[in-house]
Amino acid sequence: MNVLGIETSCDETSAAVVSDGRTILSNIVASQADLHALYGGVVPEVASRKHVENMIPTLQEALKTAHLSYQDIHAIAVTNRPGLLGALLIGVSAAKALAYVLKIPVICVNHLEGHVYSNILTEPSLTDAFPILILLVSGGHTQIIRMNGQGIYSIIGKTRDDAAGEAFDKGARLMGLPYPGGPNVDRLASSGNAKAVRFPRANLGDTLDFSFSGLKTSIRTFTAKDQGATRMEDVAASFQAAIVDVLVEKLKTAAERSGITTICIAGGVAANTGLQKAMRIMAINQGLRLVIPPIELCTDNAAMIAAAGYYRLQNNLADTLDFDTLANSPLG
Ligand code: KG4
Ligand code: ZN
Repeated sequence: MNVLGIETSCDETSAAVVSDGRTILSNIVASQADLHALYGGVVPEVASRKHVENMIPTLQEALKTAHLSYQDIHAIAVTNRPGLLGALLIGVSAAKALAYVLKIPVICVNHLEGHVYSNILTEPSLTDAFPILILLVSGGHTQIIRMNGQGIYSIIGKTRDDAAGEAFDKGARLMGLPYPGGPNVDRLASSGNAKAVRFPRANLGDTLDFSFSGLKTSIRTFTAKDQGATRMEDVAASFQAAIVDVLVEKLKTAAERSGITTICIAGGVAANTGLQKAMRIMAINQGLRLVIPPIELCTDNAAMIAAAGYYRLQNNLADTLDFDTLANSPLG
């Protein structure tokens, strides 16, 4: 079964074709990063307009790359929540129009569930390994999800203020780095000394929750005082380590407490090379099985939406054409 996935929740217009929920035939992402870099962050109105321009060419490219035509598509999966409403509406309108004309099912997918399925797309045998833990770290979310089965989630830890990606982006801006900040901090940090500056780690006692607002204040105070005296690479590495240490420690604690031995990471921040390295070391030391999606499945993409949609369809969860878009929608 070929599922066409559509993703437009933020600033990436993406379309993908995934066969049987596991084989990626195409995964096209039209990034708007350069456009939003002019403003130092995503401008919702600009994102919506760009999705309108990009949607049809991106769909055509996804079919061409998969060597398929619309007649070979059996169902459409589209992100309808959470995200920027204007942006979501573009993808949802395209999906509904196509499903109506092609007379095929349409499935609306929670973007967060899409990120979860980027792991299952990477490692389909995960569906035999429930319960599993997923650290979902993106621009808008930071949470530890316990997945007990397909579609069965509980959130066992989450951020109380900023998301990890938000912390990376705000920190990067204070360091004078361009948008999107996360990948730029990552690149600089790779040749920096992570022990050069001691930034705070918020442990929040016994909980599995996160907080990055103190770190944000700390980097603001530091950059104002330092005035460029410390090597930028060292600041980036130290700042990144403060985020990575907490993410690794909390996921380790979650695994210890739950007795769950399969852990995954997902979302844009999961692309961070420092986080990946630290997670691998922790997993080996703790005897845990770790799954990390390839970078193109960590950041926003439609293949993960198609995969999540496929599993929903297998469970008879197709939607009717009147579904809405939602700015906020937690998993579980
Ligand atoms: O999942 P995603 O593409 O979009 C959302 O759902 O939010 O995540 C975007 C976030 C941004 O904050 C971006 O700076 C961050 O992921 N990010 C990274 C890296 N690549 C993307 N953060 C740190 N290191 C990276 N290599
Ligand atoms: Zn995302």
